[in-house]
Amino acid sequence: MSERRVLISPSVLAADFARLGEEVRLVEEAGADMIHVDVMDGHFVPNLTLGPAIVRALRSVTDLPLDVHLMIADPGRYAATFVRAGADYVVFHNEACDDPTPLFELIRQEGAKPGLAINPPNPAESIRPHLPEIDLVLVMTVNPGFAGQSFISSVMPKLRSIAHWKRELDLDVAIEVDGGIGPSTAATVVENGGEILVAGSAIFAAEDPAEALRAIRAAGEKALA
Ligand code: DX5
Ligand code: ZN
Repeated sequence: MSERRVLISPSVLAADFARLGEEVRLVEEAGADMIHVDVMDGHFVPNLTLGPAIVRALRSVTDLPLDVHLMIADPGRYAATFVRAGADYVVFHNEACDDPTPLFELIRQEGAKPGLAINPPNPAESIRPHLPEIDLVLVMTVNPGFAGQSFISSVMPKLRSIAHWKRELDLDVAIEVDGGIGPSTAATVVENGGEILVAGSAIFAAEDPAEALRAIRAAGEKALA
């Protein structure tokens, strides 16, 4: 049995916003490791969601790390605002800026950890040079924009390549996977190198979110055995 543990980051995009504080406390008690916050600007992706005010509100109800996923154009314009609102990780998309390296620096200077996200059609090579510069790589298994989409399994070879590079170069980067993850897809994600699993609908739309969270982790950890 490996000592590796599967971490779960519930995405509040699928939570009941009228009861956001309660929903977060519920998943925290169920053993969530982080809270995933999906920020969309209606421009980089065709949906509008949460902003810094929600990050600040979440900061006041949980001590878990806030994993803020920026699906916005020009992330450099807002990254510091999200750190000041309480983000622990600020993750943005490579396609959204010309040169991500100065933005990693800025996020660190503000006191958070930088991450880079990669969309399903994009090759692993497009982020490879940046892996030593970041704390987290977010491998998308849906095209970003909405919760509740189907898992794209053709991303698995790319995930495997990234996990291979991490081992080969002994990098200190966490591998997070996002989109369509639930009890039936968690095992394949972990087998291919996923370490932090984001799950929105599979947790918050479940009849028993705490049970769903535990089932996702159990399915993932079984793949490590
Ligand atoms: C998709 C978001 C995801 C999404 C996950 O654009 O980045 O984080 O909320 O939701 P599920 O788990 O329902 O696919
Ligand atoms: Zn996300």
